[in-house]
Amino acid sequence: MKAVVYDRYGPPGVLRIEEVERPAPGDDELLVRVRATTVNRLDCHTREANRSNGLVISGVSRLISGIRRPRQPILGTEFAGEVAAAGPAVTRFGAGDRVFGNTGLRFGCHAEFTCVQQTARVAPMPESMGFAEAAAATDGALNALWCLRLAGPLKGRRVLVYGASGAIGTAAVQVAKHFGAQVTAVCSPTGVDVVQGIGADRVIDYTMEDFTADRERYFCVFDAVGKESFAHCRGVIEPGGTYLATDGLRNLLLGLWTARFGDRKVMFKLPPRYTQQDVVLIKELMKAGRYRPVIDRVYRLEDVAEAARHVETQQKIGNVVLTISDS
Ligand SMILES: NC(=O)c1ccc[n+]([C@@H]2O[C@H](COP(=O)([O-])OP(=O)(O)OC[C@H]3O[C@@H](n4cnc5c(N)ncnc54)[C@H](OP(=O)(O)O)[C@@H]3O)[C@@H](O)[C@H]2O)c1
Repeated sequence: MKAVVYDRYGPPGVLRIEEVERPAPGDDELLVRVRATTVNRLDCHTREANRSNGLVISGVSRLISGIRRPRQPILGTEFAGEVAAAGPAVTRFGAGDRVFGNTGLRFGCHAEFTCVQQTARVAPMPESMGFAEAAAATDGALNALWCLRLAGPLKGRRVLVYGASGAIGTAAVQVAKHFGAQVTAVCSPTGVDVVQGIGADRVIDYTMEDFTADRERYFCVFDAVGKESFAHCRGVIEPGGTYLATDGLRNLLLGLWTARFGDRKVMFKLPPRYTQQDVVLIKELMKAGRYRPVIDRVYRLEDVAEAARHVETQQKIGNVVLTISDS
């Protein structure tokens, strides 16, 4: 099968298209013919062994993905496609089913075929949905569900999403609305229309206005892009409220400290636990028109390096999709 492979850590140029052996499904696995996948921040960080995040994080990254070279030569965590074959113990899915999901740190989706366990993060696609949209549905939404639940019930609460135009941000705005929150979204002028279109109650353009200088107070501030800090946001968080982080060693330490001291908590829990139930929930939300993955650009699998360079600008609006045509 055709796949994007890499055998050393480095810039997007280390990625190349190659013919590799098609994986064979285990007893309880589905063989999925991948029609669309994405390039996300996890792919890019893993490919460069997190060098851009400093020595400590890079060391941890190599412990996870391979000390000297990557153990898994195929990146890609999100997939949408059709079940091509199923192992003998598979009862939940059958050949021909249209499915989507997320393989997480197992990767393997930048290829014509990938294998997933029937109990893993996979669900049937909503009938009316295309492969590109379904492929982009899980990365941001699973993270947003995981993080926002840490804050507790959000019905009727004010939630601020910082970095609302990113993959996690665009999902977080919609998930917070689904949880019944009143959502303020912060982004640059390029993201304003998109963020308004997905249901934010109020949008603040950070180039014009500093939300921390505002009179509004929030039950929860969600830094969906890892560019804010608890110290800077503390003043706009209500007593008893929460600062949700997606990045940063210091947030792990602040999480331990604020669990014991102070009246505002920092929440950053690793590793995130993503479940099949949440992929099913994402499917139901999409079916009901309550969640729509935002797509910035669509590339062919062959143009993966160009797609990765775009992701690395850290300026994508939502998600970047790769489509896979038959060899
Ligand atoms: N998604 C993953 O797989 C993954 C993996 C590891 C870690 N993470 C962490 O999760 C967080 C978000 O990831 P993501 O994939 O959602 O990000 P992303 O999609 O790459 O975020 C890009 C968006 O962030 C906005 N942005 C950039 N700088 C900003 C700033 N200073 N203030 C506000 N917005 C800014 C950009 O718009 P403008 O430039 O126009 O503002 C762009 O729309 C990061 O902390 C990341 O390290 C994610």
